[in-house]
Amino acid sequence: MHILGIDVGGSGIKGALVDIETGQFASDRLRIDTPQPATPTAVIQTIQQIATHFAYQGPLGVGFPAVVLDGVLMSAANVDESWIGYPGQTAVAEATGCPTVLLNDADAAGLAEMRFGAGKNRGGVVMIFTLGTGIGSAMFVDGRLVPNLELGHLYLQNMRLDAEDFATDRVRKAEDLSWKQWGRRLNSYFQHIEGLFSPNTIIIGGGVSKKHEKFLKYIDVRAQVMPAQMLNRAGIVGAALAAEVKG
Ligand code: BGC
Repeated sequence: MHILGIDVGGSGIKGALVDIETGQFASDRLRIDTPQPATPTAVIQTIQQIATHFAYQGPLGVGFPAVVLDGVLMSAANVDESWIGYPGQTAVAEATGCPTVLLNDADAAGLAEMRFGAGKNRGGVVMIFTLGTGIGSAMFVDGRLVPNLELGHLYLQNMRLDAEDFATDRVRKAEDLSWKQWGRRLNSYFQHIEGLFSPNTIIIGGGVSKKHEKFLKYIDVRAQVMPAQMLNRAGIVGAALAAEVKG
């Protein structure tokens, strides 16, 4: 079965048809710049444009960088504030005519890693982090998702800093940190996570995970730490997997 998965990000909205049996793309990947300001109307128009491009009718999965409770957006750390309280799932379904599942982007990436990537067949507590503009987080307990974990917003350094303002890839670039400097920041972040959640496995994703050999060596925790395998496919594939229930 092929399902359209869409990943809404701060700079781009990306979509592809996904073969949900294999986790591979069944079409090209289409990327459209995220409209600015990224208001609900503008973003939903872009989602509609992607569905039209693929002449798609069927279950639709959309990953979004916010807390999503029963299809309603509950936070907006890196998107327009007008999303808070907005019934995004119903609005996307009405605009596209597709039965839609809207979920957090890191939860989507986690679903893809657990089914097809680094988390495959892993039980216990598996935590997945996506390092990009923000820090996305997802947790699975014996394969079952605990949705809407927001661990990018843990306070670090005596509660002066949101973790995203200290350890994400955006900060590494903005502050021109060496891999070692950034790796040490990640280490303090993951040691804190370990103290709170005692995961068996930590999977690190996001674009920067391609360069994992440069920074994973600085992370010293009990948990098994491994790079994500789905790379930039994770968000789209996971969104499509989430929509399987509507098929
Ligand atoms: C948001 C999360 C999101 C993460 C990655 C954070 O700023 O609060 O909901 O998963 O960014 O996009």
